[in-house]
Amino acid sequence: MCGIFFSAIFTSPNDCGLVAQYQDAFSTISLELRKINAARGPDAQQMHIMSLASSSEARDAVSRILDLEFYASELRLRGQFPVVQPHIRDENILCWNGEIFEGLEISSQENDGCKIFEVLCTLQTPEQIRDLFSSIEGPYAFVFYHKPSCRLYFGRDPLGRRSLLIHKPSTEAPYLLLSSVSAGANPAYDFAELSTEHIYSVDLTLLKDAPSMENGLHSSLTRITRGPTVPHHMKRFDKAGMVNATIPPDDLTILHSLDRVPDHLLKAVDDLIANLDSSVMLQVRDIPDTTMKREGKARVAVLFSGGIDSTILTFLAHRHIPMDEPIDLLNVAFENPRKIRIQKEGNPGGVPKRIRNSQPHCKESLQETSEKVPYLVPDRVTGLKELEELRRVCPGRVWNFVEINVPYAESQAARSVVESLMAPGRTVMDLSLALALYFASRGIGQVKVDPKADPVPYTSEARVVISGLGSDELLGGYGRHRSVFKTGGWPAVISELQEEIDRIPTRNLGRDDRVISSHGKETRHPFLSLSVVSFLSALPVHFKMDPRMEVGIGDKMLLRLASRKLGLIEASGQKKRAMQFGSHSARMEGEKRGDVELE
Ligand SMILES: *[C@@H]1O[C@H](CO)[C@@H](O)[C@H](O)[C@H]1NC(C)=O
Repeated sequence: MCGIFFSAIFTSPNDCGLVAQYQDAFSTISLELRKINAARGPDAQQMHIMSLASSSEARDAVSRILDLEFYASELRLRGQFPVVQPHIRDENILCWNGEIFEGLEISSQENDGCKIFEVLCTLQTPEQIRDLFSSIEGPYAFVFYHKPSCRLYFGRDPLGRRSLLIHKPSTEAPYLLLSSVSAGANPAYDFAELSTEHIYSVDLTLLKDAPSMENGLHSSLTRITRGPTVPHHMKRFDKAGMVNATIPPDDLTILHSLDRVPDHLLKAVDDLIANLDSSVMLQVRDIPDTTMKREGKARVAVLFSGGIDSTILTFLAHRHIPMDEPIDLLNVAFENPRKIRIQKEGNPGGVPKRIRNSQPHCKESLQETSEKVPYLVPDRVTGLKELEELRRVCPGRVWNFVEINVPYAESQAARSVVESLMAPGRTVMDLSLALALYFASRGIGQVKVDPKADPVPYTSEARVVISGLGSDELLGGYGRHRSVFKTGGWPAVISELQEEIDRIPTRNLGRDDRVISSHGKETRHPFLSLSVVSFLSALPVHFKMDPRMEVGIGDKMLLRLASRKLGLIEASGQKKRAMQFGSHSARMEGEKRGDVELE
């Protein structure tokens, strides 16, 4: 993805007092933040500086200037020609980190950033600008300076698929910063994730004459509600809709197997496949060949655990990617000293039986395996199984199953880098997930041309990394759905699903974006297109899941039926497993709880 960095600060050319105190710290972090954002957009980087002088009546003894710095880096994934950001025209300025998949006609030759900038330059009012963003679907974060109104606009897409952090001016650090990623802990800023609820606008005419940055931001900032004023005939992409509250009939039949699609679900299964297929198609087509010598190289990679979500997306991607192009399947496994110790010594730490029993083999055979192959983690086992199924179902495609094996020492060595990328996320669970994503998306590992061949080193250069995130929230894949059903019946399940959808924007998508983009790649989430989200929300809950049925059938039932229909039989029965447990990146030594903050 691209990187964005914006700053606003008061400077004073002939004052060496107050301003100078924080000026040094500011210059240092400004440089660091540009550097870290450059990694997100290796193809081009540029900075544009602009100054606004305070009006004479607002000035005290010294003349004061509001300095604005716009910096953007570009990872080219759309259009025929290289693009250098920020986009500048008629003194309007746009820093764009995003993709537009629906709502604006963009040909395969064109770049979406250029295209939306063209439209933005024709708009006048805050409402028009808000409405433009309500009419496009895709992940984005942006900073836009609108010259005619002297206003700054910034925001993120309604699901928060792209990161944008904000530091609001304080007495000690009196400047405004917006950045895709932070440069690690630093007393010179205090970053928080920007809320996706609004589009923000700052009236710079007010800000430049304000007595201080802190005070000035307060009075010049407007929160623009993502409103319903888009004309009726247009599709709206301003929020994730409401979950269908229809309560299932009392005599709802229980499905005993996935072999046959019951009549009342025939249409829903077909519609789900069609919706997902279109989402995947929009997200894997038109990716330019950025270097000329890429023949035989994959442009698309999948975060591939062999679970049902990643497998179904892989299969659909296969339909839309030319047959002579391989697809990289990224499968990550961690050497986890705690797991290995447990396997060797039995279970001295008293790991609950539930966890022990979920191990794929009995203790003896595990001990043997772990010494020979410490990387035979649960996701590796299912990944390899699914690879076989894909080879059967999609003959003729080259699948690069990239075994990414991370020795303990290597994961520990990367810890400080990963902690800095994931900030302001700082819990134990943030770290275990971020580590898994960091190494998986980096794509350095080995492949075997066939199961018996020796592995050869391989690095995935695919810039688009597909992730199956979102299906558990949308289709009812979590264990807690069963527990709330037991206590509160269907109404409780419906409100649980609603809460989960409402939480998507504040969950971990920003963190994941910061980690994955640090390799100059971008993650895309076909389940989390607002079109797929509103299609699934509108389906009655009992079409999607049935908490009365066993795990592996009732959770995400509709997706399992769709997967069967597509011929992915093995995948259709896979049980849910979180990435940090499937890859063994969680709990490498202690037994800390996931929500505890790191020391
Ligand atoms: C909820 O589902 C029912 C049954 O399929 C459908 O008739 C109704 O239109 C849906 N409601 C919403 C708000 O989508």
